[in-house]
Amino acid sequence: MVKQRIVYACTQCGASTPQWRGQCPDCGAWNSLEEVTQPTVRVRARAPTGHSVRPVAASSVDLAPDSRVETGLSELDRVLGGGLVSGAVVLVGGEPGIGKSTLLLQVLGNLAGDIVRVLYVTGEESIRQVALRARRLGVAADRVHLLAETRVESVLEVVERESPRIVVIDSIQTMFTEALQSAPGSVAQVRESAARLVRHAKDRSFSVLLVGHVTKDGAIAGPRVLEHMVDTVLYFESEADRRFRVIRAVKNRFGAANEIGLFAMTEKGLREVRNPSAIFLARGAAEVAGSVVTVVREGTRPLLVEIQALVDEASGPPRRLTVGLEQGRLNMLLAVLHRHAGVSTQGLDVYANVVGGVRITETGADLAVLAAVRSILGERPIEHGLMVFGEVGLAGEIRPVPGGEERVREAAKHGFSRALVPTANVPRRLPHGIDVTGVERVDRALDLI
Ligand code: TYD
Ligand code: MG
Repeated sequence: MVKQRIVYACTQCGASTPQWRGQCPDCGAWNSLEEVTQPTVRVRARAPTGHSVRPVAASSVDLAPDSRVETGLSELDRVLGGGLVSGAVVLVGGEPGIGKSTLLLQVLGNLAGDIVRVLYVTGEESIRQVALRARRLGVAADRVHLLAETRVESVLEVVERESPRIVVIDSIQTMFTEALQSAPGSVAQVRESAARLVRHAKDRSFSVLLVGHVTKDGAIAGPRVLEHMVDTVLYFESEADRRFRVIRAVKNRFGAANEIGLFAMTEKGLREVRNPSAIFLARGAAEVAGSVVTVVREGTRPLLVEIQALVDEASGPPRRLTVGLEQGRLNMLLAVLHRHAGVSTQGLDVYANVVGGVRITETGADLAVLAAVRSILGERPIEHGLMVFGEVGLAGEIRPVPGGEERVREAAKHGFSRALVPTANVPRRLPHGIDVTGVERVDRALDLI
């Protein structure tokens, strides 16, 4: 008989503690501990017989490049770092209804062939529902094998028998293993089920795509608890009611982190967007105050985005709200604006927004944020042909950012005629049709804008 013990697992970070507490000792979240039953596992004192434990010389390790398959969606291949690595475990997270099942069914349809066997394990929808969707999406239905199952042991039996090269688990939150008593969806179950699949995938070198639902309130075990176990973590970033979907690699053992891919949801499923800059830049013809274009670099790709700012009289403590930008960064930038450019936002609410639903994780947009705020404060529109980028430091200096030349080239490609950039980022050879000015101080830059 398997002995059981009660532990308390954090729904936020997955850490477990033997005693209940109001606050997770690991991540500090409040009221996040839930009771789980765990089997007590006896640690084996010796290695199993016939299995020697021995280190190997680094030089003797096979260093052939990972073999990859293209998924048929180049935007997804880009996020994966150049296609799906065989034997890789990829977690695909996002809110319910964002398009995870749609994306993975399309991918399986593209990859399924005479040689590549694929398996779609559904724990949420019935086989019929999945088959209907497959027909609607026009995927090669005879080649995609479906399995409605939530017991990991059964899934692994099927995998053993059929040896598919790619397995989709939709979703990991519905899976359970008999080894644990706790309910499916609990942190312990999600983690253990995933661990079993990962171990199997590595042993048999098939790829696994795990779907994980992200819930806003974090009431059930979120995919975060799995991030450290898998090779690649992709999250859908945009909201389900938008037409465009941004997928970001927040972790990738086989490619650049923060790489993003852009898709549009159509009645035929997700379609890749080949020129995202053009999408994010769709603006009206009139020049309006509080709007400016910058080039950000998420992952390895330069992307033109529009930054908007709005100020309004505060009817209480002034608020600083951001969409797509870090709020703390906005606070800091406003302090620099006051201290080093003499422009105060005291008594004003300040809003900053990245148009199009993309989230900026780097500092290259700093100068654009300040330019947009300055523009709305003075009610002075910024000319359409101008692009600005640069990191702003606490001393009011403008610092260079990686990929300066590439950013300027992206702006020139989309018809921008003037750029204001950190002096060290001014390209030695200017792309055709763009005039680039280097700036070193915030006050001077805002004057020039
Ligand atoms: P789905 O893949 O079921 O989301 P998830 O698995 O992340 O919960 O996507 C569901 C949404 O996508 C749903 O609102 C319908 C829409 N959709 C389309 O617009 N076109 C399509 O071809 C498909 C299959 C779904
Ligand atoms: Mg789904």
